[in-house]
Amino acid sequence: MNKYQLPSDSQLRSKEFVFGVATSSYQIEGGVEEGGRTPSIWDTFCRTPGKVDNGDHGDVACDHYHLWKQDIEMIHSLGVDAYRLSIAWPRILPQDGVVNQQGLDFYEQIIDECHARGMKVYVTLYHWDLPQYLEDKGGWLNRETSYKFAEYAEVVSRYFGDKIDVYTTLNEPFVSAFLGYRWGEHAPGIKGEREGFLASHHLMLGHGLAMPVLRKNAPNATHGVVFNATPAYPLTDKDQAAADYCEAENFHWFIDPVLKGEYPQAVIERQSTKMPMILEGDLDIISAPVDYIGINYYTRSVARFNENGDIETVKQTESEHTYIGWEIYPQGLTDLLVRLNTRYGNLPPIYITENGAAGDDHCINGEVNDEQRVRYVQGHLEAVDNAIKAGVKVDGYFAWSLMDNFEWAFGYCQRFGMVHVDYQTQKRTLKQSAIAYQNMLLERAEENK
Ligand code: FCB
Repeated sequence: MNKYQLPSDSQLRSKEFVFGVATSSYQIEGGVEEGGRTPSIWDTFCRTPGKVDNGDHGDVACDHYHLWKQDIEMIHSLGVDAYRLSIAWPRILPQDGVVNQQGLDFYEQIIDECHARGMKVYVTLYHWDLPQYLEDKGGWLNRETSYKFAEYAEVVSRYFGDKIDVYTTLNEPFVSAFLGYRWGEHAPGIKGEREGFLASHHLMLGHGLAMPVLRKNAPNATHGVVFNATPAYPLTDKDQAAADYCEAENFHWFIDPVLKGEYPQAVIERQSTKMPMILEGDLDIISAPVDYIGINYYTRSVARFNENGDIETVKQTESEHTYIGWEIYPQGLTDLLVRLNTRYGNLPPIYITENGAAGDDHCINGEVNDEQRVRYVQGHLEAVDNAIKAGVKVDGYFAWSLMDNFEWAFGYCQRFGMVHVDYQTQKRTLKQSAIAYQNMLLERAEENK
């Protein structure tokens, strides 16, 4: 298939629907000691033996710090409407209270280049690279970090204002809090049930404190937050409550405080001994109105109660999986969007801010045949279309990722890019999935002329 097929009546064909590609700072930039940047928790974590597959780290990554200009040119060549990137906090504030102009300049040239080529920029303030000096004071376990995040949001938004088209406070607070502070699989590698929930509350508080700051400094930009969400299905009829609980911890815990001003009762009850200290007024701060919600969708889970009555997820061995081991289940995206629409009466417009597949991709004679990813994207675009037809307002879709990059604890062996990166030469090669994206977007542009 050399292009993705959209149904003739699909809203995805209209020029209002935003198509983009996404990346994040630590995963692509490299240049970790350049331009005045200081270490983030990921630099430290990668140096801790046994934490990241193969001992990989982001010191060079895709060398985007130096190759940004050709990368923007490549993004533009795909025909997308927008580029979603993140800003590295330790480039902007390399020390507490010290603003680094070189950091602002680095992102400004990228933003300008995107605009010069007619693309919008979607900027995430926090895609997991917390400055190490803040971790040294407790990181997200310290309530002070929420206020530090608001200060950082102030610096970035005061400088860029409406020049950033769409601001995102946090990317996937579930992953930052639970993989980082509860299960220890991500930086800073802390393991503790109470710690995980405490970090989650402070992240959400940081989001809430940043919202009015962003609105003040960028009144015409669009503001919101991005969540990962894995819809859960019961293994048997008896397991519905297990599936419901999985969703409660996976995404109601993070979205409810924003859209309902409360934490879900199911989690409060089940985790009663691990609940964080929530001060009066916190939930009012966190529930400040947002203009959109970003949803990152990759897979579903199937849950059951085991013999001990504990909840566990069950791998669907009969299904097709991607290289990282995640089941391919496009219907889950439609179901998820419909469930969100039902749960939150006031659901703001949704962007699918990430969706994609990991492969063990090889470049052979200048070509990368990522046939599974092509099918994956096709299936998920249809899933978005189906959700829109079922009444959900979805305004955009961003492929994760523009190019192969540092996939956190998996290092470089998991390739999520639509573009292949040869890490020896830094050569970029469009995979079949990128060419299919390009062709679809070209055709859409023709139609909308
Ligand atoms: C998401 C992250 C993104 C990338 C994908 C595969 O959880 O936001 O950075 O790692 O998963």
